[in-house]
Amino acid sequence: DITPVILCGGSGTRLWPVSRQSFPKQFIQLIGEGSLFQQSSTRLSGAGFAAPIVVTNSDFRFIATQQLAEAQIDPGAVLIEPAARNTAPALLAAAILQAKTDANALMLAAPSDHYITQADTFRDSVRKGITAAQAGQIVTFGITPDQPETGYGYLELGTDEVHGAVPLKRFVEKPQLAEAERMLAAGGYLWNAGIFMYTAQAMIDAFAKHAPETLEHVTAAVDAAEPDLGFLRLDPAAWNKCADISVDFAIMEKVDNLSVIEHHGDWSDLGGWGAVHMHADTDENGVAVQGAALAVDCENTLLRSENDGLQIVGLGLKDIVAVAMPDAVLVADRSRVANLGDVVKQMRKST
Ligand code: GDD
Ligand code: MG
Repeated sequence: DITPVILCGGSGTRLWPVSRQSFPKQFIQLIGEGSLFQQSSTRLSGAGFAAPIVVTNSDFRFIATQQLAEAQIDPGAVLIEPAARNTAPALLAAAILQAKTDANALMLAAPSDHYITQADTFRDSVRKGITAAQAGQIVTFGITPDQPETGYGYLELGTDEVHGAVPLKRFVEKPQLAEAERMLAAGGYLWNAGIFMYTAQAMIDAFAKHAPETLEHVTAAVDAAEPDLGFLRLDPAAWNKCADISVDFAIMEKVDNLSVIEHHGDWSDLGGWGAVHMHADTDENGVAVQGAALAVDCENTLLRSENDGLQIVGLGLKDIVAVAMPDAVLVADRSRVANLGDVVKQMRKST
């Protein structure tokens, strides 16, 4: 069986004000049934999957376990990070824990903020990658790109299949716009879906070679971890020595044993309001209305109120995103919402 590693420690600033420091986007019911975290966990449960290892931080631990219980999923372990150090240490901690019982175990690291409706097609793609992962490859999942998105990783395809997957020539994380445009025009590239399959040992070996300090500190943090009410709290002193770095930059750009399975089902990183709007139910004018909101003669607009006492009325709006919470309201030009993360970081610094 494959052990899912569900990463849910991110803070989702680009979906402010619905996504908050204390309750980020992956735990919110944004779209579809249940939160994105519940949807992700459910997609990776059932036949072929072992109980998941959930990696999150202290603030979200009860939200995570409560939402798992609601989705009737029993986690194998819930690891608590003393501080956010991005995805590299988080994913490695799960691999080290797993290797204590079975170093050859297959693991599938998945973000908790993706929107995928075709779960069966997704699981088919996962199954296709098993042989390559068992052979020691780190298997990625590739999406056909349709725009020069700079927020994703790009996978440069090799030629012949090995173990049922295509070896990668190169992994480019979050390129500059010009480079993204060049790759899109050249062809032969896929977007990295942000989902990885590997054996625990293959991931540990990759860190040993390309990020030995992270391996040292995370190993110490797992070895000295304290059980706490069903959670496993990583040792803060060791953990805090880890650099803050994503697995894409720390490992994927550097290793030479990457392969890809092309995923043909639907997939979306619900990174910001633009993506939420794109996937929401809209009328023929591209207007989506969620909660206590009313749109009159509007076009290409998203209105959402999570506050029943606060009614939003949009009249004659075009290309607007308006989102109301009990204590905060966002009103933005639809073309500017991709930059919301920076605005929210500025705001947090100044308040
Ligand atoms: N536990 C934990 N701790 N989880 C974290 C942390 C952390 O410190 N930081 C981020 N995460 C979780 C997020 O909640 C999310 O589910 C997942 O890890 C991925 O992090 P993102 O910050 O959303 O990454 P990204 O979207 O910028 O980039 C990644 O995903 C893209 C596709 O969605 C990369 O893998 C790209 O290459 C890829 O294209
Ligand atoms: Mg993401």
